Amino acid sequence: MSVIRPLSWGRRYLMCRPEHFRVDYAINPWMDLESPVDQELALAQWDRLAATIEQAGATVERIAQLPGTPDMVYAMNYGLVDGDHVAVTSFRHEQRRPEAEAAEWWFGEAGLRTTRLRDFGVGAFEAGDAFLFGDSLLVADGPRTDRAAHAVLSRELGVRLASVGVVHPALYHLDLSFCPLDETRAIVAPSAWNAAGRATVAGLVPQPLVIDEHEAFTFCANSVVVGDVVVMPQGTPSRVARQLEAWGFAVETVDVSELHKGGGSIRCMTLPLDTVLDDARLTPAVPGVTRQDMELATV
Ligand code: ARG
Repeated sequence: MSVIRPLSWGRRYLMCRPEHFRVDYAINPWMDLESPVDQELALAQWDRLAATIEQAGATVERIAQLPGTPDMVYAMNYGLVDGDHVAVTSFRHEQRRPEAEAAEWWFGEAGLRTTRLRDFGVGAFEAGDAFLFGDSLLVADGPRTDRAAHAVLSRELGVRLASVGVVHPALYHLDLSFCPLDETRAIVAPSAWNAAGRATVAGLVPQPLVIDEHEAFTFCANSVVVGDVVVMPQGTPSRVARQLEAWGFAVETVDVSELHKGGGSIRCMTLPLDTVLDDARLTPAVPGVTRQDMELATV
């Protein structure tokens, strides 16, 4: 068994109980207006998920769902937390925009400072497209985040940013193809990315657990890691679970099949509140070099 070097984050989450979860519109290929949601079952599955995450050792905060925003249950997308600062999502689709306002209010009540990416006029940035890994913030350039938003994100957060081109329409958020496991390992689904994106991730992740497209379609990369526990959706291929166990992780699976009807799984439903992006922080290494010079060199 190998040694796990746990992530510096992943012990505090914001989640939204699916009181008003439905599939009212289709903004990703998983959403099927003909397939009705069993609301009671969705609630029961969500309660079980929250309990499992708490049993794994994490804290779960809750935000009430707005009746008119059925996708609000996918809390990962509200924003990217960096200590006491949040970069609030600029949603691609207008159906989800009221969620950003509700979340911004919640962040304020929680004592966090917010920066609205939407105010910069550089297109979309959805937080399911961003992860700290190694010395960089890995950010998708794809269906839900525009390349033009990367420079703004890097500048506003003061972080080194690595772009990954997401090209697969069904793996439309980075959190469907990339799951940080510990300091050196991540689940990765290269079939979601262009060649440059594959090269970027290969350079960033020393020990990848590579999954193919078929495996990624089980949403197994959309899992949550609490220390050495990986909370994964039921249906995760046993090959993937076995590799995680061989590395020393404990795998807990939860049935969230009703919530898959909106095109998201466990990670999508959990917003990490304890991320601090210090490992990616841009600080001038050479006297006289400004932060802006560094950013221009990076992005
Ligand atoms: N129906 C939602 C959407 O298309 C699902 C979001 C899934 N969230 C995620 N972090 N991948 O926006």
